[in-house]
Amino acid sequence: MTACVYTIASGKGGTGKTTTTLNLGTALAMLGKKTIVLDADIGMANLGLLLGLEKSKITLHEVLSGSANINEAVYEGPAGLKVVPSGLSLRGFQNSKPDKLKEVMGALIEGMDYVLIDAPAGISKDGVIPLAVADKVILVVNPELASMADALKTKALTEMLGRYIEGVVLNRAELEKTEINRNKVSELLGAKVLEMVPEDANVRRSAAFKVPIVIRAPKSPASIAFKRLAASIAGEKFTETSEKEDKESFVDRLARSIFGGK
Ligand SMILES: Nc1ncnc2c1ncn2[C@@H]1O[C@H](COP(=O)(O)OP(=O)(O)O)[C@@H](O)[C@H]1O
Ligand SMILES: [Mg+2]
Repeated sequence: MTACVYTIASGKGGTGKTTTTLNLGTALAMLGKKTIVLDADIGMANLGLLLGLEKSKITLHEVLSGSANINEAVYEGPAGLKVVPSGLSLRGFQNSKPDKLKEVMGALIEGMDYVLIDAPAGISKDGVIPLAVADKVILVVNPELASMADALKTKALTEMLGRYIEGVVLNRAELEKTEINRNKVSELLGAKVLEMVPEDANVRRSAAFKVPIVIRAPKSPASIAFKRLAASIAGEKFTETSEKEDKESFVDRLARSIFGGK
């Protein structure tokens, strides 16, 4: 059995790649899927930071510089998730050879269901390799034109590498009044919108506590979106609703019992 490799990419920085990689990975692990997340943003590593793994001695840096084996850089995350962090040092980044990622993929996919790669922003060499090793690429975009324009470049690069875009995660979307809505995004990028993740203050709070939002605030609107995405990737049914929707339906029920009606 070998895993399906998803690379989580964007174009523009700060769109939510790391947040998506970590929470989609954790949500897949919570579904019982053997999942590993890998921080290929070797210059601006922060996947490990979100889990309190920043003091790890052996990271992807050591693996890509040839001084450690990939199995030594795998750490335990929440819900059985496995994590390969990158290091924070500039020297570690300089010593890393991005090409080496291709060699270690074989060992990573062994026995797993899913490998999720957190890609760097931009289209430099360390960004090309994660796209080249993917089975499927997910673009994380924000509802603004700069994010779309940069995502289009990443899409073109992905296709030049003979890979394809599985779909788009529209992150930080204000669900009702998004400047660029779901259909527009899909039309602009020529790809399906897999999920819309709303702006949610719990994302930052969970980061501060170094716990993925899908574990710390499982009923929050962003968590529901990440869990729904995980279920759809795993081909499972998903019926949970967020606390916000629960509250709304409670108010509806209350209104019905007071005022009558259906
Ligand atoms: N849906 C969201 N709601 C609120 N804040 C978010 C959301 N998604 C991401 N963020 C915040 O935006 C910042 C950038 O997210 P991050 O995942 O690090 O992006 P990238 O990896 O693409 O650079 C972080 O501070 C993160 O907490
Ligand atoms: Mg990141």
